[in-house]
Amino acid sequence: MINVSILGYGTIGSGVFQVLKENCQIIKERTGEEIKVKSILDLRDFKGDHAEELIVHDFKEIDGDSSINIVVETMGGLHPAYEFVKASLEKGRSVCTSNKALVAAFGPELINIAEEKKCNFLFEASVGGGIPIIRPLKSSLAPDIIEQISGILNGTTNYILTEMTEKGADFETVLKDAQAKGYAEKDPSADIEGYDACRKIAILASLAYGHQTDFKDIYTEGITKITDRDINYAKKLKSKIKIIASCKNTGGKVSAMVAPGLVNATHPLYSVDGVFNAILVKGNMAGDVMFYGQGAGKLATASAVVSDIIEAAKHPGINIKTIWDNQKLEIVPFKENISKFFVRVSGTKAENETKVKEAFGNVIPVEAGYSDEYAFITEEITEGTYASAEKSLGNIINKIRFH
Ligand code: HSE
Repeated sequence: MINVSILGYGTIGSGVFQVLKENCQIIKERTGEEIKVKSILDLRDFKGDHAEELIVHDFKEIDGDSSINIVVETMGGLHPAYEFVKASLEKGRSVCTSNKALVAAFGPELINIAEEKKCNFLFEASVGGGIPIIRPLKSSLAPDIIEQISGILNGTTNYILTEMTEKGADFETVLKDAQAKGYAEKDPSADIEGYDACRKIAILASLAYGHQTDFKDIYTEGITKITDRDINYAKKLKSKIKIIASCKNTGGKVSAMVAPGLVNATHPLYSVDGVFNAILVKGNMAGDVMFYGQGAGKLATASAVVSDIIEAAKHPGINIKTIWDNQKLEIVPFKENISKFFVRVSGTKAENETKVKEAFGNVIPVEAGYSDEYAFITEEITEGTYASAEKSLGNIINKIRFH
């Protein structure tokens, strides 16, 4: 019998309880042991809930219960999640978490404690919700040098961009609709500004390259500037706009970015719509491998947490090595990144053509029926070159990079 304690009985925590209960038979067969939830930490009482009897309000009750084998952290936030997770690992208990903020900030330290104490710190649900990506990166793709990861890692923004594309609605209208449907938070900034996707790509880059990737080093641009005109231009280019979180390894130098990007119909991420997420990984031996599924949601995310519980239960007293050390991963300075840009400037074609050529060199004009602006595609240029050209022109409305 494996005893589990769940910290936080919110959406994911209660989902973990439900998955363990509803699928107990198959989980027992696949683990070789019964997995039982012994206690659940939450400030609330949950009167009448089927987990009511298991609720405790003080972490000390769990910390001091020597029968607990595995701790599940689904509280979210950094504190006290960090302190509770650390205390559990130090007691030799494996911890399974869905908390991307915790993993992105304290990953190497917690991985190190787990290694020392011969237990496991597992975080499959922290990136891509129900999509298996952490374990595949750690084991299935272990023989490969990871050349590139490009992901649609945020369901809220993918839903908003999909609705803007399909319904022709503007950003604000779709955001309000997404909030009403529960697809966007009341304070949507973490999603729409790209911060959520940034933490997720930082975790994937850390695993892919073995060193701590500081999310603050990753250039991050959200979707708030995308308008219906941008969407119409994308349609003219037979492309869609997606917010892409990416990292790329060029001869050992790693670049990373989160920003809206144009993907054409042949790109594997083109058909990933609505709240779905997908992660495209390019290994130097395996080639392109894509992972697709629900990046959020109670049971999908809980399923990923339970997969970690099973993994931990199958390895009592054994640390499954995770290569992610404390050394800082140097990210290539942003201005050195190379992209091809789609750019819109205010004013007519006649007013802009010469100035644009002077600033950007050869460009390809794009027509979408707007006489008050001029749009074009640049050649591949560095971010530094782009920034200088934008400054010298002074009338840029928006720019989107091609993928
Ligand atoms: N807000 C996140 C999303 C939830 O929209 O993908 C999962 O991290």
